[in-house]
Amino acid sequence: MYENYNNYDNLFFNVIPNAVGNIKIFGKEDEFIIKQDYNSIPEEEHEIWGRLHHKLISPVDQYASGEYLQGLKALELDQNAMPNFKIISDRLGKISGWVAVPVSGFLDENVFFTLTAQREFPVTDIIRNSKRFDEKYVGVSIQNEDAYTPEPDIFHDIFGHLPFLTDDAYGNFVGKMAQHGLELIKDERGLGPQLIAHNLKRLQNLAWWTYEFGVMKKQSNTDALRKEPNDMDYEIYGAGIISSYSEVMNVVSCAKRILNGSEFLNFDIEEASLTRFDYSDIQDRYYVIESMESLYSSFYDNRDLFLFEGQ
Ligand SMILES: [Fe+2]
Repeated sequence: MYENYNNYDNLFFNVIPNAVGNIKIFGKEDEFIIKQDYNSIPEEEHEIWGRLHHKLISPVDQYASGEYLQGLKALELDQNAMPNFKIISDRLGKISGWVAVPVSGFLDENVFFTLTAQREFPVTDIIRNSKRFDEKYVGVSIQNEDAYTPEPDIFHDIFGHLPFLTDDAYGNFVGKMAQHGLELIKDERGLGPQLIAHNLKRLQNLAWWTYEFGVMKKQSNTDALRKEPNDMDYEIYGAGIISSYSEVMNVVSCAKRILNGSEFLNFDIEEASLTRFDYSDIQDRYYVIESMESLYSSFYDNRDLFLFEGQ
């Protein structure tokens, strides 16, 4: 991750460091792809998966977007046991051509974009709140509790992200962002490291405010997919929200004006790409898109925002 402050950071609206400090970031020189040894997963981790799933499934069913609910149904995730990568990947592959690749932890942009540009989605094999998680991140300031999503975490990666990747248009969007990122890193225009880092941060901000923490206007035809009708004005499509009970309930409570800690702002791609975020807490804002299609076309029509040349 490009976290060192640089000359272009004063263009951002919130200048705060986005990275988890002191944590290993895997690059292309590292052995970042691992094998899941499903039979050796401790019982404790299956229980954590079951507990998280049980707590989230009702609010997610009521408030997540239609694309998500259709994908979740198609993937048939086990409610009470950690997912088996092979089974889930085979299922996802048959639907959309995406596969889940088990990885060691945080990846740098180059590795992340390289994988996602070829429809391989990196998934961590560790779950929040487990002994393995504590052991792996000893000495690192990273939240590790049920209600909040600390990345990297298998529940976030699989329950939050994978259902969306059954949707072809969504998968294309993630792939196009990755291709753009790879082009930036190649730097054939000779922008130099500072501008490349700045453009990558713009892309990271966009990803954060959209596929991680985005909401959209309530669509007219999705209640047929739910047990309980959606009784707020929005649908949730951000994987970071969907995999966190606290964040889902914050969206619902703020949308119903029971709480007022977070704002709902109309999505503006320039504003979103220039707004930094706080990875460690409930979000103070959610950008509201009209529909998934409007998000995709907004990115495809405004690629120059992510090729900023310093003028
Ligand atoms: Fe994520």
